[in-house]
Amino acid sequence: MLADVRSSHSFAVRMPSGITGQPVLIVGLMSGTSADGIDAAVTEIREGKVHLRAKLRGHAYLKYKPVLRRRILETCLQGTVSEVCELNFVLGRHLARAALRVIAQAGLEPREIHAISSHGQTVHHLPWGKPPATLQIGEPAVIAEETGILTVADFRVRDVAAGGQGAPLVSYADWSLFTDRKRPRVIQNLGGIGNLTFLPPSARIGEVLAFDTGPANMVIDAVVSELTSGKSQYDRNGMLAARGKVSDSLLSKMMAHPFLGRRPPKTTGREEFGSAFVEPVINEVTRMGLNTEDAVATVTAFTAETIADACRRFVFPRLRGSVSTEVQFILGGGGAKNHTLARMIRERVGRGEWLSHGDFGIPESAKEAMAFAILGYETLRGKNSNVPSATGARHGAILGKIILP
Ligand SMILES: Nc1ncnc2c1ncn2[C@@H]1O[C@H](COP(=O)(O)OP(=O)(O)O)[C@@H](O)[C@H]1O
Ligand SMILES: [Mg+2]
Repeated sequence: MLADVRSSHSFAVRMPSGITGQPVLIVGLMSGTSADGIDAAVTEIREGKVHLRAKLRGHAYLKYKPVLRRRILETCLQGTVSEVCELNFVLGRHLARAALRVIAQAGLEPREIHAISSHGQTVHHLPWGKPPATLQIGEPAVIAEETGILTVADFRVRDVAAGGQGAPLVSYADWSLFTDRKRPRVIQNLGGIGNLTFLPPSARIGEVLAFDTGPANMVIDAVVSELTSGKSQYDRNGMLAARGKVSDSLLSKMMAHPFLGRRPPKTTGREEFGSAFVEPVINEVTRMGLNTEDAVATVTAFTAETIADACRRFVFPRLRGSVSTEVQFILGGGGAKNHTLARMIRERVGRGEWLSHGDFGIPESAKEAMAFAILGYETLRGKNSNVPSATGARHGAILGKIILP
């Protein structure tokens, strides 16, 4: 019976492209490098005059159980082929469950959803590999099978194939959602990795600057977990860091990492800022006799300083000349809830007007899932959605692979 229903949905009927002007509903799914869980966002999208318009209709978060989180992190680091193979299907099921949950929470039925658009889980990102390569898993065939909904997934690989870094991809959605006619804006995401999008006033897509600033929560999470013997996985609301004193000598050692000196386009991941980076930091903490609060304050200041440094070198020089209004900063991602981190970023950046995604009606943690809904929408419309000026790709490209329901 189910099979009959599915085969009656022809590709053309399910494609949103035939209904220009009508809003479509797309579920965006995101599981970031923190491997904390899946954010799912039912997003209503319609065409606008210059940019498309997107409204959040529902947001759900499916937290990974600690054993699954550990399995993901271990597989990212040194998974065997069979472990990667199995995890691809395990995560496909979790992604499908997250999609069905957010649809139900939004008071909708699966048949009202035009598409699911899934980022999946990055298990490896090698923008400097020979050849450059990236791998996201969370099998979209499983998502389409279990939900009966057309699924778009695996966005990064096409940009890499076109000579880009495959990241940051969210900058396209930032451009769609946040470009202002008068104000220059910086959108700073604080996920496992931090990424920055700079939008000059009335930016055309070719004027968007975006790159990874370095780790945002990745090092903080790892240090908190190590120093609390696994009791805490992250510094809730920045409370540990708030009580500590920053070690300037450890901070300047951390700032010497070669990634931070590189010019954009640049992206990074757990390969560079996972245990290979954290273990020597923990050794220094022990050698210097820093207590937990001081260590966490120092790695939090490190994230803030990487962002301030990136602004000074790559963003602020572009604010001279024609741009006269003060730049607005919009923080997002799970790290925006770390009050100490947000305060340190403001202090170290030292200028600007500070806003949150909440000021635009977007919960911090829903933003990236919404961004992938936007990317999936463009794919189904046959439109390019990478930002070559950000990823370094040779040309614009239609991203993603489509699984029919
Ligand atoms: N209340 C909070 N206080 C401090 N940090 C938080 C809080 N909530 C989430 N985080 C941080 O945000 C991370 C998840 O952020 P997220 O945007 O989902 O990143 P990713 O895209 O890498 O999954 C967590 O691992 C944690 O470090
Ligand atoms: Mg996450």
